[in-house]
Order: sequence, then structure tokens, then C-alpha cells
Amino acid sequence: MGRAKKVVLAYSGGVDTSVCIPYLKQEWGVEEVITLAADLGQGDELEPIREKALKSGASESLVVDVKDRFVEDYAFGAIQANALYENRYPLGTALARPLIAKILVEAAQKYGADAIAHGCTGKGNDQVRFDVSIAALNPNLKILAPAREWGMSREETIAYGEKFGIPSPVKKSSPYSIDKNLLGRSIEAGVLEDPSAEPPEEIYEMTKAIANTPNEPEYIEIGFNRGIPTTLNGTSKKPVELIEQLNQMAGNHGIGRLDMIENRLVGIKSREIYESPAMLVLIQAHRDLESLTLTADVTHYKRGIEETYSQIVYNGLWYSPLKAALDAFIKKTQEQVLGTVRVKFFKGNATIVGRRSDNSLYSPDLATYGAEDQFDHKAAEGFIYVWGLPTRIWSQQTRS
Ligand code: ARG
Repeated sequence: MGRAKKVVLAYSGGVDTSVCIPYLKQEWGVEEVITLAADLGQGDELEPIREKALKSGASESLVVDVKDRFVEDYAFGAIQANALYENRYPLGTALARPLIAKILVEAAQKYGADAIAHGCTGKGNDQVRFDVSIAALNPNLKILAPAREWGMSREETIAYGEKFGIPSPVKKSSPYSIDKNLLGRSIEAGVLEDPSAEPPEEIYEMTKAIANTPNEPEYIEIGFNRGIPTTLNGTSKKPVELIEQLNQMAGNHGIGRLDMIENRLVGIKSREIYESPAMLVLIQAHRDLESLTLTADVTHYKRGIEETYSQIVYNGLWYSPLKAALDAFIKKTQEQVLGTVRVKFFKGNATIVGRRSDNSLYSPDLATYGAEDQFDHKAAEGFIYVWGLPTRIWSQQTRS
């Protein structure tokens, strides 16, 4: 008896996921492996990947274009939440995992599979995100993670694959481990494992080095409706198109790089480099528009919600009751978040230089220092008397 009969395997075309195909069949007695590659805008050619799975022994090789769903159902929610893990990482990799899990579960149900497999190792966050998401969506499915158990080195993995006709990587494989999609690139390993070493310029693809960016600033306008970006420079954009164009425009000015030591859920600190131009600009602009359209108390309260949201998305709890509850709060707050934010791109910086909104709560009559001032200055005195009363009493009491 094998561990499962029919398995849907998350497939990228790389060595590890390719070796999973014969491994599942030979070592774990799986009868049939169906592979599924998700098109998340990573820019890889998917037809050769589809064929490679069949050559490696898959009975069926699926490619699913989920770019629209990725942006509309995952990235946009994260923008509304101003989601930055540890205040910096805009979660490009983390947001893709629950969507991949969802289409894996959909395929498993459609093809009558009894298990889902993935090629994650036992050290990362992605295994957690896959396993927890799959369990949340269909707790009856088994989860198989061969690379978590097989204990083969890189060389042994390649050699194992060769026995089953899986070609070893043609070019000398990159020393880096890279995950990429529409929202950005996550790069680790190689020389980056030394946290004191500066990342070499060669690792970047979406962002220019400052030396090569334009010598003139570029101004762009981003329009939001209900906290969702809908226009660029006054023109309506489809969600995917908006992200693609903004990645291009901001990346051209060297905007969107991050170098951080982050805390993984499994307890390890890792050094990760990110490129995520569009998401970083959109979150910055969105937060700014909120400062114009939300009341002070909602803005302040939401900061705590955003922190929790970022942690649970990072930690694989996309399909959880807490996430659903936070979503409901965030959705309510976004009803008034409408307007346009003007951003200046120059030499690696995205600077907000202006914002306007039909829902603006900014009152010129109250804010002005000019003659038009409507603020009742005398009222401030009574307010301060009451506001400061506890402190005054405390001071009198403790001094005596
Ligand atoms: N550390 C990031 C995360 O957990 C990205 C991991 C992606 N993998 C990689 N090969 N860089 O979301």
C-alpha cells in the first residue's frame, strides 16, 4: 500500500519538484501524479514546464493562469491592510501560497485525488503556508512533502532524477534561491547568507541600480477607490496591468529593494533580499490616502490590526477565522478611502508629494494659521483643563 493513490503535485519545473514525480511513484507507491503549475506572472515560459512534467512521469500536466485572482483576491487585500511583515516585507511570496493551495485543492477535487504534494523543505515558511491552507480548505486530503523527508543533497537529488530521465540543469544553476511572481522577487542563499555582505548587483532584475536611473524625477498619480488602486496617471487600469506598469515605472527609478534579516515561523532568522516596487509604492500611497480620509481613532486602531494581519499572512493563516474577522474590519474601514495620491520617483525614492479626495476629512478652515481660521481657540483652555486633570492631581499628590 502506497501513501496515496492519486496525487496533485505543485509543480515549478525545477529539479526538486521534477524529482518529486518519480520519487512519489517509486518510493511512496503513488499510482498517479498530476502536476499543477500556477501562472502568477513569474515570467517563466510555461509550455516547456508543462511538457517537462509529462516527460518526468506525470499522467497529466496542468497549467493554471491565476494572475487576475492573485492581484484581485490576495494582493489588493494586503494593500488595504498596509501589510508589511516586520514593518518591511510586502509578503509577495507569502500571498501566493494560499492561492496555489486553493487551486491544488480544486484540482484534487476535480480529478478525484486523495493527496496533494509539494516540494518544500522542512526549514521554510512555505511548507507551513501550504499545509495549513490545504488543511483549511479540505481537511480530508493527505499532504505529502517528499523533500521534507528524502534527505538527499542537491547532487543526490540531481543524480536520482537522472535515473528517471529528468535532465540535470543545463546551465550551472544559480547559487541563489529565488521565488518570483507579479508582486516581486525574494532572493536568498549563496553569498547572501553572510548578513554583513552587501548584495551583489547581479541579483536584481526588477529594479535598476541608482547609477543607471533617470536623472530627472518622474511624477505619477495613483487613484484609489475603496482602498483599491484603480487608476494610474488618470487612466483606468485592470488590476494586473496596474501592478505590471507600476513595477516597471518604479523599478526604473531603482525603487523597491529591501535587504532584511527576518524571523521565520520555524524559529530561524534568515537574510532575504526583496524587490517589490509596485507593492511598496502602493502601500505607501494607500496609507497616505487613509491619513486624509479616515478618522484619527480608526487610523490608530487599524495599525494594530495591520500588524496582526501581516503576521498571520506570513505565518500561513490566510484561511483562518481570525483572518476573516480582520478582513471584515478592514473592509469596513475602506468604504471612504477614495482619491488620488501624487508620488515622485527619483533615485531610489518614492516620495508622496500630494493627495486629494472627495472624502477628505482635512478642513482648511480649521487647519489654517491665516485670518480664515474657524477653530475656537478659547475652547482649547477648558479642554486642556479636563484632559490634564488626572496628571495635575497625580502631581499634587506625589509632590507632597
Ligand atoms: N522569506 C520569504 C517568505 O517567507 C520568501 C521565501 C521565498 N523563497 C526564496 N527562495 N527566497 O515569504
